[in-house]
Amino acid sequence: TPNIRPLVAGNWKMNGLRDSLAEIKAICEGVEEPHFERIDTLICPPATLVYVATALAENCALHIGGQDCHSQESGAFTGDVSAAMLADCLASYCIVGHSERRTLHGEDDLTVRAKAEAAIAAGLTAIICIGETEDERRAGKTLDVLRSQLSGSVPETATAANTVIAYEPVWAIGTGLTPTTEDIAAAHAFMRQALTMRLADEAQAMRLLYGGSVKPGNAGELMAIENVDGALVGGASLKAEDFLAICEAY
Ligand code: G3P
Repeated sequence: TPNIRPLVAGNWKMNGLRDSLAEIKAICEGVEEPHFERIDTLICPPATLVYVATALAENCALHIGGQDCHSQESGAFTGDVSAAMLADCLASYCIVGHSERRTLHGEDDLTVRAKAEAAIAAGLTAIICIGETEDERRAGKTLDVLRSQLSGSVPETATAANTVIAYEPVWAIGTGLTPTTEDIAAAHAFMRQALTMRLADEAQAMRLLYGGSVKPGNAGELMAIENVDGALVGGASLKAEDFLAICEAY
C-alpha cells in the first residue's frame, strides 16, 4: 500500500537454541544494506532468546519481538511471560492470537484482544493474527471468519503505530500452500474495509501482513498484492539467507 512502510517479520515458533543467535547476527548484518532502508524487519525468537537477541540487535535495524504474552502485567501465572517483561527485555513487538495459540491453547478472540491490549499498554506493537481454517474456506466462510476475528480480537486502542494485522490462512501455514493472488487481494481489501469502519484513518495506515508458506521463491509475487504490507514468515525465517531473500522482495 502506498505510504505504508512494509514489515517483514519472522516467527521462529518453538525453534532456536543459543547457536541460532548466529542467524540473528547474520540478519542484522544483512539488513544494514542500504536497500533495506525502506522496510522494517523483525524476528520473534522463542522467549528464552529474546533478551540476548535484543542485545545482539542493539545497533542494527532489526527489531526483536515476542511470540505471545499474558494479558496481565505480573502475578501468579506459572510459565507465562508478560508484555511488560518483553518490553523490559527491549523487545518492540509481540505476536498475539497466532492460530497455534488459538488451536493448541484454546485462545478465543476475547483472550487475544486482552493480550493485544496488554502488548499495546506495555509500549509494544501488537501483531494480531487471524485466518480461516480449511473447513471454513471450503464452506465459503473466509470473509465472515475474518470479520468476526477482527471485531473480536482488535482492541479499540489499536492505531497504525501500535497494531499490525497478520492474515494467516490456517491451511497455508507450514504446508507449502498459499491462496491465489486474487483470494489474498480480496481478503486484504476486506480487512482494510472492515478495520476502516471501526478505526477510520488509522486503518488506512495500518500494516496488513500476509503469512502462510511465504518463501524466497514466492515473496515477490505475494508482496506485490494490493493491501499486502509485508509478511509474517515461519519456516523460512529460521535461516538468515532465506529471511533476507524474502526481505529482498521489496
Ligand atoms: O507465523 C508465521 C507462520 O504461521 C507461517 O508459517 O512456516 O508457513 O511460513 P510458515
